[in-house]
Amino acid sequence: MIRQAKQTSVMVKQLQLHRYDGDILTVGLFEGTKRVPSEYANLDKAVGGAIRDILRLGDFKGKANETTVLYRTGRVGCRRILMVGLGRKDKIEPAVLRQAAGTAARLADKLGAGRLGLALHTVVPAKIDAETAGRVLAEGAIVGRYKYQDYLSADKESKEVGTVRVSIVEPKAAAVLKLNRGRKTGTILGQGQNRARAVANKPGNEINPPLLGREAKKIARQFGLKCRVFNDRHLVEMGMNAILAVGGGSANKPRLIMLEHKGRKGSAARGKAVTGPDVVVVGKAITFDSGGISLKPSAKMEEMKFDKAGGCAVLGIMTVVAQLKLPLNVVGLIPTAENLPSQTSYRPGDIIRTYSGKTVEVQNTDAEGRMILSDALAYAAKMKPAAIIDMATLTGACVVALGEHNAGLFGNNDALKKKIEKAAEVSGEAVWAMPSGPEYLEQMKSKIADLKNTGDRKAGSCTAAAFLGEFVGDVPWVHIDIAAVADTDREKPWREIGATGFGVRLVVECIRRC
Ligand code: BES
Ligand code: MN
Ligand code: ZN
Repeated sequence: MIRQAKQTSVMVKQLQLHRYDGDILTVGLFEGTKRVPSEYANLDKAVGGAIRDILRLGDFKGKANETTVLYRTGRVGCRRILMVGLGRKDKIEPAVLRQAAGTAARLADKLGAGRLGLALHTVVPAKIDAETAGRVLAEGAIVGRYKYQDYLSADKESKEVGTVRVSIVEPKAAAVLKLNRGRKTGTILGQGQNRARAVANKPGNEINPPLLGREAKKIARQFGLKCRVFNDRHLVEMGMNAILAVGGGSANKPRLIMLEHKGRKGSAARGKAVTGPDVVVVGKAITFDSGGISLKPSAKMEEMKFDKAGGCAVLGIMTVVAQLKLPLNVVGLIPTAENLPSQTSYRPGDIIRTYSGKTVEVQNTDAEGRMILSDALAYAAKMKPAAIIDMATLTGACVVALGEHNAGLFGNNDALKKKIEKAAEVSGEAVWAMPSGPEYLEQMKSKIADLKNTGDRKAGSCTAAAFLGEFVGDVPWVHIDIAAVADTDREKPWREIGATGFGVRLVVECIRRC
């Protein structure tokens, strides 16, 4: 028996906290809280001072994501109250609230609660407005509950219920409208992020380039996007020789997937002298990266199923852009291939004439991401868009440089880079600006072709980015290296292991600013 599919709906309820009658009500408390905050005074009275007692005893410190469940709820509408720590009050930011909501949703799951109340935001100072609060609570709960369980048999011990109804509980009428507006956006973003995770978590025997093409078609139909999938014959006609080279080793032939959202009214991009799309979002989708002839060591090679995470993020982003009906023209471009060694693989030493016309000497077949991106980026640039954003699990060097706390940010345009950095503050997905100027390109020059696909040991993510920069012409472009942040094997109170869906919220926020 397979597990019940998880579904999470979020709504806003105007209600005194002690009147909420679901299975569990969540309150937020800052670190060092000694006395019951006025927002919870009635609630505490209804539970006979239980919150007061816990705070007095000092058993609950209020550290971020710390939890305690109260059961003697007395005259309160629900039987459990969950206290979640929000950390220091002067450090409160939307990301803290988002995590707290995820922590609450995951704990509620363990308890088998089908109806979860969230009043986490009620003690939060006004610097986080109600709309933002509604958004991050919805995002946190929806993203928090997601779990990849397609292959897990039903667990008889587990109390987990399939569908959970989350209510953001708000006593004040004045805040309800804004909370609800944020709740709607947050639901769309959270679901978009989970959609990206659901595809990225699939193993290589379950998804490959042709199947990813079908998945894109299905998603396009569902969300009213235009979709074209170029197959290997099309790719030959188009001259997408880098994508073909990388995909050549697998019986599962490569594809180039294109998704389109047409939301703009006029012909020209807002205040820009271009007639192309406002943004093209490009995502690397290697459905499995064995390294090819330059075979990777076997330790942790299974993690290379996540090498399609950039492309999966693009799928998620396009569903969100469509549902938010953004007044922009946005194109999603996903070059996808399976990098395997075989008799038909491309080889070290091969020279490939890419779609752009530039030739590349292959020194390492494991540097395949930049190969497929070179064709996709050149194709994107040809559309003359106002901006190109690419996401790729591109380099191990980026994992070494930044770890899982930041994605690497590169690009040829400061204004666009700033937009990503601003968006990162909103989305909570951190990026760190890295250099990729002409000095790094030097390492990527070949003696027998225009470029080669590896540099040397030094600055591997910077040289990779410099290589990509050669294929976008003068179109404003940013590259986000998500190698370290696309997946995780570390469980947190607020999220599962596996694909993170990094980039969906970030890039949507950036597109909204384009
Ligand atoms: N997909 C990998 C990069 C990667 C490594 C992502 C670790 C996530 C975790 C990429 O295709 C790759 O193999 N890059 C090589 C490039 C090298 C051969 C120049 C790398 O980083 O080692
Ligand atoms: Mn590789
Ligand atoms: Zn790769």
